[in-house]
Amino acid sequence: MRDSLRRLLLSKWAKVAVFLLCLSPLACLGWRAYQGRLTANPVEFVQHFTGDWTLRFLLITLSVTPLRKLLNLPDLIRFRRMLGLFAFFYVWLHFLTYIGPDQVFSLPGMWKDVAKRPFITIGFTGFVLLIPLALTSTKGWIRRLGGKRWQALHRLIYISALCGVVHYYWLVKSDHRLPLLYGAILAVLLLYRLAVSFLKPRPAVAVAPAR
Ligand code: HEM
Repeated sequence: MRDSLRRLLLSKWAKVAVFLLCLSPLACLGWRAYQGRLTANPVEFVQHFTGDWTLRFLLITLSVTPLRKLLNLPDLIRFRRMLGLFAFFYVWLHFLTYIGPDQVFSLPGMWKDVAKRPFITIGFTGFVLLIPLALTSTKGWIRRLGGKRWQALHRLIYISALCGVVHYYWLVKSDHRLPLLYGAILAVLLLYRLAVSFLKPRPAVAVAPAR
């Protein structure tokens, strides 16, 4: 069973399938637009839809490492970069909906809003933090930065997801259940990561022999 699952994960079609799956929210949005089912306030609908999927993709990306270990499926790593880049793709759509239809490309208006409304400030921070991660996601950048530094930089994804959760919590006016659920998932993922790094055996420190 595990062997056939591993073979499936390693096949080139698995990547194509995951890619198409990641595009399915966009396809669903396009289909709703085509059918004229974007509600009475389409801009708000698209803003909420793309915001939700950004947060979901961030959490799915962060789940890859724990799932690899817990399910003993190391090959899941093949999909992590793609999932992270899809989080970036959806946050771009989210941001474009904001600067385009919402702010009508008024940069001064946007800056004023980013500075004035704390939930926009924190969402914007989460977005900006994802930019260096997307830019350095290639193998070339891993080589250039070196594994340790690259990993340290890419831990920013936790901060970005945290900004996303706080952003969502602050913008919701009454029912906080969903942002709290996303926050709880993020907390579990973060605690798992911290536990693994504390429990990891440290390399023995070489002690100079006594003369
Ligand atoms: C990591 C980055 C971000 C994440 C994870 C994120 C996530 C979300 C989520 C989950 C929602 C609510 C969706 C719902 O109610 O169903 C939302 C709404 C929203 N976001 Fe973001 N967001 C991010 C960045 C940004 C940025 C950069 C901006 C603009 C500068 C922005 C502007 C908005 C606006 C205007 C709304 C709708 C607010 C309302 O209707 O009251 N977000 N976002």
